[in-house]
Amino acid sequence: MTVNEEMPLRAIILYDSRTSGGSTDRLIDAIGHELVETGAYVEKAKCRANADYSFVREFDLVILGAPVYYLVVSSQLLGALVQSNLKKCLKGKKIALFLACGSPEPMALTLYLPQVKVHLVRNRILSEKIFAPHQMDDPDEVEGFVEEILDEYEKADRGRPGSSQLQWDDEASDMVNAMPSFISGKIRSSLEEYARINGIKLITPEVINVARSSSMGM
Ligand SMILES: Cc1cc2nc3c(=O)[nH]c(=O)nc-3n(C[C@H](O)[C@H](O)[C@H](O)COP(=O)(O)O)c2cc1C
Repeated sequence: MTVNEEMPLRAIILYDSRTSGGSTDRLIDAIGHELVETGAYVEKAKCRANADYSFVREFDLVILGAPVYYLVVSSQLLGALVQSNLKKCLKGKKIALFLACGSPEPMALTLYLPQVKVHLVRNRILSEKIFAPHQMDDPDEVEGFVEEILDEYEKADRGRPGSSQLQWDDEASDMVNAMPSFISGKIRSSLEEYARINGIKLITPEVINVARSSSMGM
């Protein structure tokens, strides 16, 4: 699968683990590496139950993952979904999920994954994966997971009206790229939404200027 080179997919991996440098850390690095290889822009952030997750809004794709300890998905990820603004910031986001655990897959799908999914009923989940201990360091397993995420992402994006035709000209793209990173993702998404609503197929500096003076409120 290919990712638009001009506007790379922006992915964030939100994860939790009690262990530093353990299997989850290695898994996240492998997933991140695989995504970067496809041209995506990737960041990772370790969850804290009470953190501010506003930054998540800048990303197109959110991958949530954690290990299971004593039958419960690692607490800071679950805590963030319950206590913080994470759930609110995930509104409308495409999501992928993974768990690292020692139990057989059917048990993990029945007992562990629902602990996370119950908080994501309104999100589009592109792919979900249980990594057993022998799969965590297997490049084929990671590659398969990332491939499925990207394929489903592309399908979901193709389904959006007008998305397949929407393009950016170089100058408009440079204008947005020159903005600080904490805001450029949000501006880019807002402009694409504005273009889709108004049937615009090419985003130019003029489109940005008109959007700025419209109700888009840029
Ligand atoms: C203290 C402890 C408790 C665990 N409890 C479970 C469990 O209840 N169910 C399960 O499937 N795996 C369990 N596991 C396996 C872990 O989920 C698995 O080893 C995971 O990869 C650990 O991730 P980490 O290396 O990032 O800590 C447990 C592991 C540990 C160390």
